[in-house]
Amino acid sequence: MINVQINEKPKSYPIIFGGVSAEKILSFADGYKSLAVISEKVYKLYKQKLSPLENACRIFILKDGEKEKNFKNYKKILDAAMKTGLSRKDAIIAIGGGAAGDLAGFAAAVYMRGIDLIQVPTTLLACVDSSVGGKTAVNTDYGKNLIGAFHQPKAVLIDVDFLTTLDDKQFKTGLGEVVKYAFIEKSCGGEYHLINFLNENSEKILRRDPKILTQLIEICIKLKAAVVQRDEKESGLRRILNLGHTYGHAIEKETRYKKYTHGEAVAAGIKYAFKLALQKGLIDKDYAFFADDLMNKFGFCEIPEFPAKRMIAHMKGDKKSSGGKITFILPVGCAEVEAFEIDDV
Ligand SMILES: NC(=O)c1ccc[n+]([C@@H]2O[C@H](COP(=O)([O-])OP(=O)(O)OC[C@H]3O[C@@H](n4cnc5c(N)ncnc54)[C@H](O)[C@@H]3O)[C@@H](O)[C@H]2O)c1
Repeated sequence: MINVQINEKPKSYPIIFGGVSAEKILSFADGYKSLAVISEKVYKLYKQKLSPLENACRIFILKDGEKEKNFKNYKKILDAAMKTGLSRKDAIIAIGGGAAGDLAGFAAAVYMRGIDLIQVPTTLLACVDSSVGGKTAVNTDYGKNLIGAFHQPKAVLIDVDFLTTLDDKQFKTGLGEVVKYAFIEKSCGGEYHLINFLNENSEKILRRDPKILTQLIEICIKLKAAVVQRDEKESGLRRILNLGHTYGHAIEKETRYKKYTHGEAVAAGIKYAFKLALQKGLIDKDYAFFADDLMNKFGFCEIPEFPAKRMIAHMKGDKKSSGGKITFILPVGCAEVEAFEIDDV
């Protein structure tokens, strides 16, 4: 078992690696009642592992898919918390990918003005990204994640065994965020040489070697924590976590969140950021080729180019852009990025 302590303002919490069992999860929920919000698919796949939770807490099964991260389910989770009589000392446990974690997390953030949240991420994306950092949210008819709160978990329990049943598309989604960490590492203040780690271990990663995946997730979490610790509410440094996201979000909007997963769109957004940085003379050709080569090792899906006018309109409408300018995080050197405000691309 590896225990990484994340010291984030205003709270620090452990990230525990190792086999997850119902007993282990409950040992972190030290109130006397809890509500477990579990992704339907995960519950079916891991019934044996998770069903003992039924004896100790109320279970809310959340249907799968981004569209389920909605207000209707948010209200249902809060109703279930009230029916169970959860008190301020009790906990909500989120078991699933980022959608379940974000929605259950938002419910935990507002129920009685905030109760304990235990995150048990079961996708690679949720392990390296959404379960750590305290962002919680619900989607609205006007856009994704427009309503939410910062609410740090009490603990995050990571069991890489869950990742064995992820389909290839979902696994690659997580890898999209993983390569992002490699390209921003120096700006995060990290010294793990994630770029080299990815280069040397790409085959083992794609084979889902548990030891390598554990190391990989641990590095990514430490990098994210280093950023969030210095900028919890995204007023400055945290923006660098958005490498690939400006163009990635535009792809998701253009394809109505149906065709590509978030990580696939982010991977394409990273490629776009490298192209733009090369055009603007921020990086040299060697680094651009190297980055392209590294990304090709992971076989991200090819996403076609969309009409520039429409993409610019999506990017200008992004919640992270303002005053008609588009905010891009662009590479400026090996594993280094900076934020740029750009009028047009
Ligand atoms: N809070 C944050 O900081 C943050 C960061 C990045 C993304 N997000 C959010 O995360 C969400 C995306 O997360 P995601 O990529 O995990 O998607 P997801 O939660 O929708 O899960 C993807 C699919 O994988 C299935 N699944 C989950 N675990 C599985 C397992 N172990 N085996 C087989 N199938 C499994 C799910 O049932 C679902 O069908 C988005 O809503 C995004 O906005 C949040």
